[in-house]
Amino acid sequence: MARTVPITLVNSDGSRVALQAPLGDSLMHAAVDAGVAGIAADCGGMLSCATCHVLPREPHASTLPAALDDELAMLPFAAHPAQPHSRLACQITVTPELADAVFDLPPTQY
Ligand code: FES
Repeated sequence: MARTVPITLVNSDGSRVALQAPLGDSLMHAAVDAGVAGIAADCGGMLSCATCHVLPREPHASTLPAALDDELAMLPFAAHPAQPHSRLACQITVTPELADAVFDLPPTQY
């Protein structure tokens, strides 16, 4: 069984970053480890910075496990206004279901 799944992050200029995200890791960690500049993750995943804002595309936007209250409470602090499916990448666990998922990155995290 694959230990990673392919996930694509799309920068606001349209450029794409293809990740092989380790299962069980957070999407934030996978992106930071891959050097993705569009994920700042200042708090290191402690859910206190909202600089790991991502916008999942369908179909995954609708099938991701729902955000918990703490994540929902932090999303309004994202620099780029949160959208209906906005998420914080540190709260998204990489699972096999995320294979081929595409996430847009906001134009800024600050
Ligand atoms: S890394 Fe800070 S809230 Fe996600």
